[in-house]
Amino acid sequence: MSKTIIVSNRLPIKIIEDDGKIHLKQSEGGLATGLSSIYKHGDNIWIGWPGETICDQNRQQDVVNLLDKENLYPVFLSEDEIENYYEGFSNEVLWPVFHYMTTYAQFENRYWKYYQEVNEKFKQAILEKIEPGDTLWIHDYQLLLLPKMIRDEIPDVSIGFFQHIPFPSYEIFRLIPWREELLCGMLGADLVGFHTYDDVRHFISASARLLHLAASSNRLQKGGREISVDAFPMGIDAQKFESMKKGRATKGFYKELIKNYKGQKVILSIDRLDYSKGILQRLHAFERILENHPEYIEKIVLYMVVVPSRDTIAQYKELKDEVDKLSGNINARFRTESWHPVQYFYRSFPMEHVVAVYSRADICVVTPMRDGMNLVSKEYIASRRKPDGLLILSEMAGASKELSEAIIVNPNNQDEIYGAILQALETSLSEQRERMNALIKTVEKFDVYHWVKIFMTQLKQIKQAQKENETR
Ligand code: G6P
Repeated sequence: MSKTIIVSNRLPIKIIEDDGKIHLKQSEGGLATGLSSIYKHGDNIWIGWPGETICDQNRQQDVVNLLDKENLYPVFLSEDEIENYYEGFSNEVLWPVFHYMTTYAQFENRYWKYYQEVNEKFKQAILEKIEPGDTLWIHDYQLLLLPKMIRDEIPDVSIGFFQHIPFPSYEIFRLIPWREELLCGMLGADLVGFHTYDDVRHFISASARLLHLAASSNRLQKGGREISVDAFPMGIDAQKFESMKKGRATKGFYKELIKNYKGQKVILSIDRLDYSKGILQRLHAFERILENHPEYIEKIVLYMVVVPSRDTIAQYKELKDEVDKLSGNINARFRTESWHPVQYFYRSFPMEHVVAVYSRADICVVTPMRDGMNLVSKEYIASRRKPDGLLILSEMAGASKELSEAIIVNPNNQDEIYGAILQALETSLSEQRERMNALIKTVEKFDVYHWVKIFMTQLKQIKQAQKENETR
């Protein structure tokens, strides 16, 4: 029986060490939920880094045994590898360039060497597990070289690759010193997927111009092989949010929030700490509202959750300091005895708490400078108790292509963010309902299971067509 192997940098679990014992905590992230419909079944597996540096061989074996029961298979990374492959090449080269923040990029040769080595390490892990007829689904920018590495070993294997972050325009992509190698790596797949058609277009254009490949519609020809490139906008598990809303813990948090913010409009901002998310710009817009509209003093709060992320990287540390400083200043400037305008939390919350906050928030401001998709916007919609509330969404997020009933803004335009929040504060309930009902329909229809299904179906069809061509 052939199986499907999912591969991503991170496994969908966290390792927790308690009293010298190792436990696993399942991730609640969108990808983990969506792909559980695949990797938890039969012989299917998920290969990836368990998120902790474990050097001791006995402990590594304990982790392997524990993960095996969950259909997971670990790739252990050393501290050097984390520093140079994960923090270095993935997050100081690819992440900033792919998000159009090129001045943040550090093009270090050392990072590139480790990136190649760790992609090789993933290749070895796959080769230990793969059998004839298996299908591989490789995820995201940390593993761009992997499709070709596997293709070179097993020429007829079926490989899907999906990139969760934007693919930049050719003019930006070509800044990377190792651009050809990266493209060739991705083109080892049979199907390359992105969230939007713009990403597809950029990838095809970069491949055609840098590698001189022939392209027709969504297909590229390379070395006698045909590679399909397409858009698959990822959704969320809307049903899970629907049932979570009704859960006891969520209801409890929700009641508390209703009590704590009585008579106030709650404006929600929730992201991983990242310079691509536009957190400071959002704070500035909020500050301007308090400055220019004293009628909102004690009547609105910005409920801002910043989830710690990549905090060993200098730019993330700097951003954290700036967010701390600006939110502190706003509170010091505008607070009253009984009211703090910015409710700032630098931590992650249990999902039940997040859903309660989504339900309570009158407005959700999602204004990244650039984002592959952005699932927060979809989670907010799926968490509404009634079809009300307003979503302010950046046109630079992939989600804006689907969620057109949101208030769409250019995140670089401070006046527009400011104006959109003011507009949202005054929008009638009937208009809110009209917008939210349409958004709910989209989020429910195009959920994460739909995403998995259309990607896998297309990959199967490609393999089938290849086989038919060979037998002709
Ligand atoms: C983005 C990327 C993922 C990554 C996640 C968290 O969503 O597309 O590949 O796993 O951020 O980042 P981290 O560096 O903590 O894995």
